[in-house]
Amino acid sequence: MSWINVAPYADIEGEETLPIEVDGQKICLYNLDGKVFATDNQCTHGDAALSDGLIQEGGLIECPLHEGTFDIRTGEAKGAPCTQDLRCHEIKVEGGVIYLRPAAR
Ligand code: FES
Repeated sequence: MSWINVAPYADIEGEETLPIEVDGQKICLYNLDGKVFATDNQCTHGDAALSDGLIQEGGLIECPLHEGTFDIRTGEAKGAPCTQDLRCHEIKVEGGVIYLRPAAR
């Protein structure tokens, strides 16, 4: 898969999360201290968008529905009731543009 231009960096500057759609897949971008990461947007526990959640200390995203947590950098499920990891997508930022390389489905 090649890199896809998904958003200007300015769109997430000053925000914690940004929901996007790439090739029919719902993805959440995160701004973790100025560095951008991407995971699937849907929580693996239920029907909730992580882009509506809050970033916690330690680089975790807290699901807005049952407050389960995932590591934004690795997608690893960290807090109950979440047990299944999130799929992560590769990100690079160049020239003020965010590029994403989707993970295999
Ligand atoms: Fe995310 Fe339940 S739907 S923790």
